[in-house]
Amino acid sequence: MTDSEIIIQADGLKMQYGNYVVMESLDFVVRRGEVKVIMGGSGCGKSTLLKHLIGLERAAAGEIRYYGKVFDPDAVSADAIRRRFGVLFQSGALWSSMSVAENVAMPLEEYTDLKPSEISEIVEFKLSLVGLGGFGHRFPAELSGGMRKRAGLARAIALDPEILFFDEPSAGLDPLSSRRLDDLILELRDALGATVVVVTHELASIFAIADRALFLDADSKRALCDANPNDLVDDLSADFKVRDFLKRGELNVND
Ligand SMILES: Nc1ncnc2c1ncn2[C@@H]1O[C@H](COP(=O)(O)OP(=O)(O)O)[C@@H](O)[C@H]1O
Ligand SMILES: [Mg+2]
Repeated sequence: MTDSEIIIQADGLKMQYGNYVVMESLDFVVRRGEVKVIMGGSGCGKSTLLKHLIGLERAAAGEIRYYGKVFDPDAVSADAIRRRFGVLFQSGALWSSMSVAENVAMPLEEYTDLKPSEISEIVEFKLSLVGLGGFGHRFPAELSGGMRKRAGLARAIALDPEILFFDEPSAGLDPLSSRRLDDLILELRDALGATVVVVTHELASIFAIADRALFLDADSKRALCDANPNDLVDDLSADFKVRDFLKRGELNVND
């Protein structure tokens, strides 16, 4: 893994809203096929970082590179990069007035010239990948929370993205559905050959899926580490805040 191609690179990234600095001096890379977790306490800037990575927010300083090229969200060239993204936000927002199949078909209708019959075929295939084969005719309200997340995932992978971004994918799910979603993220990474960036503060998910985890610390406004979480727990040289964060589970197994 160490030599594989760098897909995303952040150099001296600074993020702020107005005068309020959220994070600064962020330097990290995401390599091909890796699952990178962005972790840290509530309000530290995880979602903000994700928004910068996909170009919904502009860096206050520093830069983000994709495939070695600087990503300027406002440049025309950014569209080609965005086409390679699949994004699943916290809400997982599906259109409630459309069937699941229609939701998944939307990006294909918008961005491709495929015929309706071809689109239907792809939609059914993507739904089967997330374990929702045969459920396309249902409406979001007719699905469980876990199924809605998976439907959102089917939509996020409709265009065969190279890079998948998730913001708190298991928020609001029971532990079993959450674990199934983690498994699914890894399966999709393998099936699509995708690179994955996941924002989460849930320990079970962090240990289950992260190849490397970037810890954002709200106090210092810096990333304190970027390593495999299993290595960090017992690494006495790791910052105590990171170890505390990763050992929460020992204090409260229900956390
Ligand atoms: N659009 C915004 N305008 C101003 N401040 C914001 C905005 N979005 C988030 N923030 C602030 O930035 C900080 C980081 O937020 P966020 O990235 O959502 O944290 P996290 O996802 O880690 O919980 C918080 O203090 C939050 O209140
Ligand atoms: Mg968030």
